[in-house]
Amino acid sequence: MKITFHEATRLFRLENNQFLYAFFIDGQGYLRHLYCGKPVAEFDYSSLCDFGFDWAKTYLSPSGKEEIFSDNYYSDRSLLEVGSEGKNDKRGSLVAIRQEDGSFLTDFVYVSHRIYFGFPALANLPYAFAKDQEAQSLELTLKEVRSGLLLKLTYTLLGELPLLVRTEVLQNETKNDVEVRKAMSLELDLPDQGYDLLHFYGTWSRERNVERKPLGDGLTIIESRLGRSSHEENPLNILAEKDTDENQGSCYGFNLIYSGDFRMAANCDKSGSTRVLLGINETDFSYVLKPQEAFELPQGIITYSSEGFNRLSQTFHSFIQDHLIRYANAKAYRPLIFNSWEGCYMDFNTDKILSYLKTAKEIGAELFVLDDGWFGKRNSDGSSLGDWEVNQSKIDLRKVIDSCHEQGMKFGLWFEPEMVNPDSDFYRSHPHCSLGHEDSQKELSRHQLALDLSNDSLVDEIAASVNRILDSYPIDYVKWDNNRTIADNYSYHLGKDEQGKISYLLTLGYYRLCKKIIDSHPHIFFEGCASGGGRFDLGSLAYFPQIWCSDETDPVQRLYIQYGTSYGYPLSTMGSHVSKSPVSSYKTKADVALFGSYGYEFDPTKLSTEDKQQLIPNLDLYHDMGNSVIQNGTLYRLRSPFTEGALSWISVSSDQTKAIFLYVTLRKQNSSSRFIRLLGLDPKKRYRNSLDKKAYSGDYYREIGLNLSFWMEEFQSTLVVLKEEDYD
Ligand code: GLA
Repeated sequence: MKITFHEATRLFRLENNQFLYAFFIDGQGYLRHLYCGKPVAEFDYSSLCDFGFDWAKTYLSPSGKEEIFSDNYYSDRSLLEVGSEGKNDKRGSLVAIRQEDGSFLTDFVYVSHRIYFGFPALANLPYAFAKDQEAQSLELTLKEVRSGLLLKLTYTLLGELPLLVRTEVLQNETKNDVEVRKAMSLELDLPDQGYDLLHFYGTWSRERNVERKPLGDGLTIIESRLGRSSHEENPLNILAEKDTDENQGSCYGFNLIYSGDFRMAANCDKSGSTRVLLGINETDFSYVLKPQEAFELPQGIITYSSEGFNRLSQTFHSFIQDHLIRYANAKAYRPLIFNSWEGCYMDFNTDKILSYLKTAKEIGAELFVLDDGWFGKRNSDGSSLGDWEVNQSKIDLRKVIDSCHEQGMKFGLWFEPEMVNPDSDFYRSHPHCSLGHEDSQKELSRHQLALDLSNDSLVDEIAASVNRILDSYPIDYVKWDNNRTIADNYSYHLGKDEQGKISYLLTLGYYRLCKKIIDSHPHIFFEGCASGGGRFDLGSLAYFPQIWCSDETDPVQRLYIQYGTSYGYPLSTMGSHVSKSPVSSYKTKADVALFGSYGYEFDPTKLSTEDKQQLIPNLDLYHDMGNSVIQNGTLYRLRSPFTEGALSWISVSSDQTKAIFLYVTLRKQNSSSRFIRLLGLDPKKRYRNSLDKKAYSGDYYREIGLNLSFWMEEFQSTLVVLKEEDYD
């Protein structure tokens, strides 16, 4: 890992063994992008900056003379690190401000830079970190030519990962207010067009479907305006060359350490290049920066792979596990969860939960989670959010926790701290605690309203009421839910000048609440959730090492959801449970759920002996290999349910001594020749597989494959364990 600046050519090189990112400061003071990809030794500037004839290569000097820009600058098509607003370049600006005179003309130029070991820490947003000397950063200061607004732009390399973290802070060191109308976190100008875009779309219970489509001419936008990263789209986006597949070809991955409204804009215009911008959604956005105020933007992540999507995903996975998740024990064994929700919903009492505990324990649960329904007067979703007091007439919480602990299980509880039901004591006693204006009807969703988290004192009050429960009971785990999108964007707490940044402030409020609750309980494991996987993003993962991947627990639907999610997020982050869903056998359900953070969610008292027996093999496997092979292993996707009629993947332990392979059919597949080539094994090691009990070299499995030429029913799963021959 090395960042260098070459004085004579004003060239910055940010590089490690796998990755090189380069740009230079031109004669105008613009940062001119040169390259993002595999390491190369040299750059021919004259070639890289030459786009043939153009009229846009001159400017009018102060003396009124037409002059030629230096360094072959084309004002409408040069590749840049910071696109301008209101100038010749129409590919989309990084930052746009409203000048004092009302114009939007925005143009940043270089002032200074420094290179240092370490990484930038943000005050109010989650950020990427590194241990010891594992990170190096280049911090540039740019100045907006008319207003004087400063942009601190930092690029950070993390060890040998082919990945760049981009951090931006706008600082107003002028004497006037500066209104920021757009502020994106990341810009990448690629010198070509014709890429495919992979984005991850969906809805409730159908998250992160993979769509691959050509980026045609013009502007393509992928966004959320729902107040959270959303079920509908994900901030993860990938650009790939046409022939790129899972194992070969070039691709670029983009993501944002942010959980609120975002926008990815990819522009292919006459320039022949592609500009990618990713950051806070600019719709209805206005941030008036007061003198001496700083505005932190979410960090943007750029990754590159020359070996297809599997390698790109593995880079994201390592980044999340080693540089993002703050929970200290995230890599430790995760106790097998039993969650009460799909078993009894809110219809329970102490006796019922005690009987659940006993039977959950018998089938191997190690952590029992009491889901929604234990507080206020909550027997349906129509009331009590906000009233974080145990409903003593419904549940004897202390007795339940004691019994859980006596049986050797940990105990977890469900909360939804960011929301309120109008039918709650909290709402009745806190006027204007939710978003929305009196003169405009408030729109409910699941009978609830979003609390106004832009109000710090309200955040502190909510944190205190949740913490009261966490500090009064010996709780080991929390499921933190969020069951509606943001609407009625108005806060009684904010002034006229501040309403335009409400969506950003609500996201900061969420992080403030996380800090107040999570950071003060480092012994508790927090799992995120937003009506399932509606907030599966890097911002949340900084606080929650695991997120409930979807409310859909039907294993066939889950194949798609977990497969799509794996493009950007490791298996360890995906909460996945065996449920009562009738579509397949318990074996298939358990096999699908095993590839995630494993758990159960059904009425355990209704499980037949045969069902229980189907759960036993994976229980043993989870104890033995769940942590080393699945949660901390390396994942390779082999067959896509979206395009190949089956899901297949393999996860390999980091020492390459063990692996678990899965193949699940979507349709019945007759016995026909079917050899699946396995990736990730050490070619020189010999592995015995649990299917035909034979041992072959890693090379054999890779080149010839595992023979699955047998009859398969629909939704049949084949799970194969591979262990190095002399592995005990
Ligand atoms: C959301 C979650 C579920 C469950 C319910 C409880 O839908 O995704 O897992 O916790 O809320 O109300």
